[in-house]
Amino acid sequence: MRIEIPETCVAALIGISGSGKSTFCEKHFQPTEVLSSDHYRSIVSDDESNQDVSKDAFDALFFVAGKRLDNKRLVVIDATNLSGAARHDIIHLAKSHETSAVALVLNTPEEVCRDRNSLRETRVVETSIISKQTIQLKNALPQLSRDGFSKIYIIADPDEPIEVARTKLSCNKRDEPGPFDIIGDIHGCYDELAELLEKLGYAIDPNTFAASHPDSRKAVFLGDFCGIDNKNVETLRLVMSMAKDKMAFSVCGHHDAKLERALRPGTSEIVPEFQSIAAQLRDGGPDFRKNVKQFIDSLPSHLEFDCGNLVVAHAGILEKFHGRVSSRIRAFCLNGDLVSQKSEFGSPVRFPWADNYQGKALVVYGHTPVPEPKALNNTICIDTGCAFGGKLTAYRYPEGDLVSVPSRTSSKMV
Ligand code: UTP
Ligand code: MG
Repeated sequence: MRIEIPETCVAALIGISGSGKSTFCEKHFQPTEVLSSDHYRSIVSDDESNQDVSKDAFDALFFVAGKRLDNKRLVVIDATNLSGAARHDIIHLAKSHETSAVALVLNTPEEVCRDRNSLRETRVVETSIISKQTIQLKNALPQLSRDGFSKIYIIADPDEPIEVARTKLSCNKRDEPGPFDIIGDIHGCYDELAELLEKLGYAIDPNTFAASHPDSRKAVFLGDFCGIDNKNVETLRLVMSMAKDKMAFSVCGHHDAKLERALRPGTSEIVPEFQSIAAQLRDGGPDFRKNVKQFIDSLPSHLEFDCGNLVVAHAGILEKFHGRVSSRIRAFCLNGDLVSQKSEFGSPVRFPWADNYQGKALVVYGHTPVPEPKALNNTICIDTGCAFGGKLTAYRYPEGDLVSVPSRTSSKMV
């Protein structure tokens, strides 16, 4: 069995006494990663079996867990976690720190747990408690998927060989130093994209859409690849080919997410614009729409590069969200800081997040068309409205210079 643990998350052991939770933690995790309820009982009362101090022990445990998550560290909670309330607190801890929770269930047979307990020299748990916990676990198992865990691993056989692998978060490209050419919203403007890439020094094979750069530069696309009546098939072919060849990175834009929904079999209630783009993608031949859907599904909300000195996101990102993955962060990165009310014309109101940005990392983003790239507080918006008659712009990192090509469309930016 292979268990994948994201580098930052809350991993919760779930199992009855004697199921092997602490032994599992000792084997697979660093001592500093494991926060055990018994340890915190002893921290607050000098007695690891003192059940009367459970509240204080868990308060202390959750305080330390929160600090570890603030520092983007892994938290492993070694406690029985058999009650719905205990698991609710774990999910809340994960969500409030913009991370996920993974359940590691040790479903060791009751007789094995009883036998192990009887052999213990200290902290022997009574058989009646083990029986009660067994019923609690049986009731918990069907609940787990509804609790909000992102992954649930059930280890039924205590002797099963287990590999615990640490996985990087989808946004973590911190070991990619660049240099990069970051390109704003394309919206199907393939001719401008090819011209811009060539101007930046890339050679593109028009038949295979393979691209290369003599100085090993890589492209970074800020999402929103398609636009109505534009060259969407060619644009996606180029972007996807560069991604496959590790010549480019991409983040997801809000239009990409809508297109992905339009590409799901049997979806209705999709705005006609995306239905028409999805229909146009049939021109890409068999499997093309499936490959596009898979590509969009794989796109992260944002990317951190160069040891965290550079962050890209379609619509921008607050500093506290850098290097974290959650649905709230994804919504922000795709749509911007949408305040709940609508404007008098019914359109969503966007809070100007960059006005208050004070982060150390440079944030390059798109989404809101501007006539000229807009730099503010170590952020820069490079969506220069190519689809609306503006231009397609690249930000060269780390040089910091801008390269543009004019739009070939006759419509004007308003
Ligand atoms: P643990 O102390 O790991 O169980 O193992 P636990 O789930 O954390 O129990 P509680 O909830 O804190 O009470 C219990 C005993 O079983 C042995 C351990 O050495 C320990 O004495 N054990 C555990 C095994 O013999 N084999 C295993 O695979 C795991
Ligand atoms: Mg234990």
